Amino acid sequence: MDEVGRIFGDVGLGVFQLSLSRPVERGEYLSVEDELHGPVLCQLDDLKRKSDLNLERARQLSPGDEATVQETLLGTARVIGYRDAQGLVKLPTIPFRSGARVYRAEESLIAEVLGLKRRASSGAYVGLLRNHGLRVELDINQLVQRHVSVLAKTGGGKSYLLGVLIEELLRHKVTCVIIDPHGEYGSLRVPAEKNGAHARFGVESQGFGRQIQEFSPDVTLNPSAKPLAFSLRHIEPRELLIFMGLPNVKAFLAPLKGLIESVAATNPEYTVRDLIHAAERLEGVAGETLHERLEYLEQTKLLAPQGTSLKELVKKGEATLINLRGVAVDVQELVVARIASTLFESLKRKLIPPLFLVVEEAHNFAPQQGTATCSRVLKNIASEGRKFGLGLCVVTQRAARIDKSVLSQCNTQLILQVTNPLDLRAIAQSIEGLTDGMTSMIQSLPVGTALVTGGGYHTPLFCEVRPRATRHGGESVQVVDN
Ligand SMILES: Nc1ncnc2c1ncn2[C@@H]1O[C@H](COP(=O)(O)OP(=O)(O)OP(=O)(O)O)[C@@H](O)[C@H]1O
Ligand SMILES: [Mg+2]
Repeated sequence: MDEVGRIFGDVGLGVFQLSLSRPVERGEYLSVEDELHGPVLCQLDDLKRKSDLNLERARQLSPGDEATVQETLLGTARVIGYRDAQGLVKLPTIPFRSGARVYRAEESLIAEVLGLKRRASSGAYVGLLRNHGLRVELDINQLVQRHVSVLAKTGGGKSYLLGVLIEELLRHKVTCVIIDPHGEYGSLRVPAEKNGAHARFGVESQGFGRQIQEFSPDVTLNPSAKPLAFSLRHIEPRELLIFMGLPNVKAFLAPLKGLIESVAATNPEYTVRDLIHAAERLEGVAGETLHERLEYLEQTKLLAPQGTSLKELVKKGEATLINLRGVAVDVQELVVARIASTLFESLKRKLIPPLFLVVEEAHNFAPQQGTATCSRVLKNIASEGRKFGLGLCVVTQRAARIDKSVLSQCNTQLILQVTNPLDLRAIAQSIEGLTDGMTSMIQSLPVGTALVTGGGYHTPLFCEVRPRATRHGGESVQVVDN
């Protein structure tokens, strides 16, 4: 047993102070022997060096003088608990004694109390417990049933980690639909180039080409995708104006409605071309503009008499990428609104298998302030989706800007480095069990380390994210060559 210090002072039930005889890093696991229940797992939450060098003496030191300083390393530790005979995590009901020895926790105790066990058929292996070789496997049923958020500042590693998660879901044949605004996830088809980290984490490089299908409203820009089209008959005139790039031009609403009614009266299977012919007969500015914008709409091929069918869009055990690269923001919102509501309605009627809907850049699609066309349906999915087998995963670089009712419904959070105080506050407010020590650690997390809360674990833990089995598609663009 590796003794690292002693408890001192007044000892509480959940927190105690210790003087350290050896340096231990913040966040490290410790153990203290409880008289009734044996070893109890604790975690070092904060550290301070106390010294006898006061201001007076420090000021008397001349440049170059060696200071003789008596110092002690003091720590604040938090009690995590022990497993009782029923396998439940319990906190001791009597405080530890002052003077009690504190040890570095053994791996077997950490694994037992944190619940780091192999979940084989239901575990998503996302990485290793920081500073330990223990696998962190999230419970896939919890992920899908209780929603997930991935939060970090820009460049913090969100898309990388999400790629890891999707690889795991595909290995377990979980159906996914991924809203991919930057076209980053097509690289899930391509095996990663192996490096030293792959061996350390026990990861094989592997492509998922057979389980990925990609759709995009713009196949000219995104040639690897199949065209995504919506059924013209099911689009409201107001939505049609957004697709036409005329979102706020109310003056065109009535003429457009008139056009649609006149065309649909003779041909219910009408096309955009039929609307264009009808617009040619319309006089004035409205006629001209509608004609021109309908020509544009026809080119986008976004609307057809028959839209992309649900059967094509969702395939059991596969991931569908909705690649929105190069698509105007308001059209992106409409696409997300249409897809999210179609999936939700279809799941309610059990037409498709349970699935995981991933929304990247979610602060744009479910903003806290203002509205996006798709906000309402995403909020409904966050609050009711799990009853119907629709899991939601929101990814954002601005925790403060995403709708809080969506964020607080996410029971698993994967948090990488966040430095913005407003985002940190939003995170602290929406997550139970996050200590002040952890919140401050989030600010200095290195790229590739995540704080995981939920996912089948009862206490938040730090995880070194495993390397990708597939190539990461969100590499930063080099402005100047090295
Ligand atoms: N676990 C990791 N291991 C190795 N490299 C990583 C890891 N996580 C992130 N990176 C690297 O860090 C960079 C940024 O990661 P990523 O693209 O995932 O950031 P992001 O949070 O999605 O950023 P943005 O908000 O701009 O989309 C990438 O180039 C990636 O290669
Ligand atoms: Mg990203």
